Amino acid sequence: MLNISYMLKLVSPNFSDLFAPNIEIGNFPDGNTHIRIPKLEAYAGKEVTLFHRLYPNQNTAFFELLLILEALKEIESKVTLVSPYLPYARHDKAILEGEITSASVTCNLIARAGCQKLITFDCHFFNEKGEKQYGDLFVQNFSMGEELIAAARELFGQEKFEVVGLDKGAAYLVKNYGNKFLKKSRKAYGEDKIGYRDIEEMAIDFDLAGRNVLLIDDMISTGSTMLAGLEKIKQSGAKKIGVAAVHGLFLAGSAEKIGKMVDFVLSTDTVPSPLAKVSIKEKINKL
Ligand code: R5P
Repeated sequence: MLNISYMLKLVSPNFSDLFAPNIEIGNFPDGNTHIRIPKLEAYAGKEVTLFHRLYPNQNTAFFELLLILEALKEIESKVTLVSPYLPYARHDKAILEGEITSASVTCNLIARAGCQKLITFDCHFFNEKGEKQYGDLFVQNFSMGEELIAAARELFGQEKFEVVGLDKGAAYLVKNYGNKFLKKSRKAYGEDKIGYRDIEEMAIDFDLAGRNVLLIDDMISTGSTMLAGLEKIKQSGAKKIGVAAVHGLFLAGSAEKIGKMVDFVLSTDTVPSPLAKVSIKEKINKL
């Protein structure tokens, strides 16, 4: 078990909702990134936990991360990175000839810049909490599923509810709650949508009529998967419906669209947003 409380902490400004930042990040007039770590030498040869989000603005945040890691490598710090949402994690398989699998490349770059371990949450290429080597990087993956379900329990009051995974990828979130998840099929890859397939069908093979339902997934990006799942849940005759996702990116107006269909929407602050009512802070503090 990693004992973060005894380690030196470096906190980026994009983590300031949870911890006081001690890294300065800005821009030169031409847009180039400028970073300063006050008292940098104090971290030389030490174990350091770096808190730096990689979303939103993932490419800029990623370059900032590389600059910080390289500076710490230079002074031989041993760095554990805490990045709660790992961008590019969904692109873990090449479909087209010559396609770069950005999940492994992202992890390799983080490792090669000197990071010894990444701590993240509900990472797409895990489908379970745990730890493993991924490419060159050692990754520890935590899950916020239990915390989201506990928060939903409050919102449903004293009423019982079914916990349903949005698709097979969410099966690990519901395995202790009856193992119910929707069966999703996708269309073929379109030429105009590289690496993306539209949803063909969402199917339910269990009864939800008259029951309260929490529909849960690891993430909501454009919300198209969640909206398709909700259509099905509505048709099934469910009573109250809640939605929970660990990473709430809520692109394309999806927070509003989903909000109109359900009784509540919950996410966590792996990605800060007004719907991020469940915090990772307690879990990070317990590491
Ligand atoms: C898919 O495997 C994931 O678990 C999510 O369901 C998906 O990535 C969400 O994307 P979107 O919100 O764009 O449908």
